[in-house]
Amino acid sequence: MSELPAERRRELLVELLREARGCCRCPLHEGRTKVVFGMGNADASLMFVGEAPGFHEDQQGLPFVGRAGQLLEELLRGIGLERREVFIANVLKCRPPGNRDPLPAEIEACKPFLLRQIELVDPRVIATLGNFATKLLTRSQRGIGAVHGTPQVHEIAGRRRWVMPLYHPAAALRTPRLVDELRLDFRALAELLRAPLPAPVRSDAFAVADGSSGAGSSAESEPQATAAADGALQLGLFG
Ligand code: URA
Repeated sequence: MSELPAERRRELLVELLREARGCCRCPLHEGRTKVVFGMGNADASLMFVGEAPGFHEDQQGLPFVGRAGQLLEELLRGIGLERREVFIANVLKCRPPGNRDPLPAEIEACKPFLLRQIELVDPRVIATLGNFATKLLTRSQRGIGAVHGTPQVHEIAGRRRWVMPLYHPAAALRTPRLVDELRLDFRALAELLRAPLPAPVRSDAFAVADGSSGAGSSAESEPQATAAADGALQLGLFG
């Protein structure tokens, strides 16, 4: 997918955004104010994947704009990065009522959008925030307490990528000692951004999904000439 020109990948991302805005694949669409598709640098080598929009995200239609987002930005600055340099998405694009945990059926329904985002942005490193993103993208039931801070390699959306599991910033706001763990893990993340992917070995060659997401099928069959301004804004396709 990275063979596609950057401009084409942006167009396809905007088409995916439009598709997500009309999504009724699960009952969460009934209660949403806005779809929270994701935002950031469409060419980012680092993508964060959180859990689901909360109250403020649902209101604004943007990911991580509340207190957890402030902590995420502070942690990013600590390793010399700004929010606009990375891409930020969630497992779910719509807010679960009362911020309850995502349900398995909701995760399944929304997964094609995330996989297509990964395919189009094509990050070398994916930082999973909390249990839901980590279990989904590592295809493992090992919890975040056991796996945080240790990079893994997985084939996701058609390509081998680093996956760095991290505590969710919201968990760190509730349990302050986790902030120190997060700071340490962000240092390891900074190292990882400089590290080459290790050579493939047969045992790690499994895929999270088939890489052809399904969410992008209409995107590929009905190309648009240019990215719409609203889509470009949401995606933060900075100049
Ligand atoms: N928590 C998440 O997992 N995602 C957001 O966008 C905001 C808070």
